[in-house]
Amino acid sequence: MQELVTIVLAAGAGTRMKSMVAKVAHKICGQPILSYVIDAAAQTGSNTLVLVLGHQADEVRNLAPSDAICVIQEQQLGTGHAVMQARSILSQKSGTALILCGDTPLITGDTLKAAYEYHQKQNNQVTILTAAVDNPHGYGRIIRNANGQVEAIVEHKDADENQRAIKEINSGMYFFNIESLLWALSQLDNSNNQGEYYLTDTIEKIISRGEKAGAFIVEDSTEIMGVNDRSQLNDAEQVILKRIIKEHMLNGVTFRLPETTMIHKGVRIGKDTIIHPGTQLTGQTVIGEHCEIGPHSSIEDGVVGDYVQFAHSVMVQSRIDDHTKVGPFAYIRPGSSIGQNVKIGDFVEIKNSTIGDNTKVPHLSYVGDADIGKGVNIGCGAVVVNYDGRKKHRTVVGDHAFVGCNVNLVSPVEVKGNAYIAAGSTITEEVPEFALGIARSRQVVIADWVKKKGLDKK
Ligand code: UD1
Ligand code: CA
Repeated sequence: MQELVTIVLAAGAGTRMKSMVAKVAHKICGQPILSYVIDAAAQTGSNTLVLVLGHQADEVRNLAPSDAICVIQEQQLGTGHAVMQARSILSQKSGTALILCGDTPLITGDTLKAAYEYHQKQNNQVTILTAAVDNPHGYGRIIRNANGQVEAIVEHKDADENQRAIKEINSGMYFFNIESLLWALSQLDNSNNQGEYYLTDTIEKIISRGEKAGAFIVEDSTEIMGVNDRSQLNDAEQVILKRIIKEHMLNGVTFRLPETTMIHKGVRIGKDTIIHPGTQLTGQTVIGEHCEIGPHSSIEDGVVGDYVQFAHSVMVQSRIDDHTKVGPFAYIRPGSSIGQNVKIGDFVEIKNSTIGDNTKVPHLSYVGDADIGKGVNIGCGAVVVNYDGRKKHRTVVGDHAFVGCNVNLVSPVEVKGNAYIAAGSTITEEVPEFALGIARSRQVVIADWVKKKGLDKK
């Protein structure tokens, strides 16, 4: 069977990242660099993935899909040597090998598909993905003959002055006929300036056998850009972020000042939602339709319904239902579920709690480990006292209860439905339905006390 086998080279040390983290594990819009390369390869229909690992192999292996085949290159003796590590897998296959580098996350599935089609139509034994760049420094150069046919790739360090002026560079990505590749690998030696087995030398070998080598020019040369240091990591992230935001825009999402926004790959946003400046939507976040998110808000692994307004606030691992308003300056912590048409106002913190439909927590409250019913009003400054110094306890407030300002609900405690709690009360015992709970000392008024003390200002 004619197969497409993808080989991703990722054994290199990534020294210029100056990092304890493996280069291809660094993240772009929430996903490891390597995952972008793997995703693009998968779009070609390739269903065998081989990863060549070396430096920090265990860390990189953890990023691989479970059906990937990992091979180890103990010593990094060059890109040709890296591909040799996949020889025993390739020798069981026939068809095409797609070679990619683990650190070029900008390559798209569309480009790889087009290049694969070209490779097949041209009946090439090898097709090199090339690009014309303004600054070819550090890249291998494509050498063509008088008829414009590809003859060889010359490495930067081995190139003479004329060759160095060539602007068409080798992207380091190729489609090979597997049989030709295996034969050419057996012919490689390391007699060059760097003493490495260059994969690029396979081109001349293949041509010398009377086989056909071609180049597929990648129009948008940013697609072949590699990540070698933190500055290029940022360059690559800018490109991917723009692609992600563009896709949301085309799906009907409005962005204000999108250059101030971070949207992770995989975040979903419904149409007619507006994302205001300074907003960060990360992890597995899903936002519904007709929402306004931001300005200056973060939602991590959050699920938001439709018609939600969320301004100057933060939410982590929680959900909000339709027509609810949050913020400014609210903090919704993990494990919270906020109902429909709820108001969570300024300086309110909600943690691991459920808030029923039509409930209002408008200002300056802490609600932790509590189940608040529907149509409840939590007065300004009311607090759930959920921690006794050793353990967290839960509190329940029934539907349509009214909790006055500056109330402490000392957990575990239950306020039944339709009950009222007087302002300033510290509630430690159950308050029955339709009852008033009041727990504070009575006010005393001492007439003329100020004058008697001589504190009056004349
Ligand atoms: C290589 C190409 C060059 C091309 C450039 C594109 C060769 C000889 N040169 O050069 O023509 O323009 O890529 O970026 O192929 N790797 C291994 N094991 C090794 C060596 C490298 O796995 O022993 C991996 C690296 O982790 C990296 C990729 O192969 O992902 C490319 O290696 P790198 O050293 O960056 O090659 P360049 O010198 O940049
Ligand atoms: Ca490189």
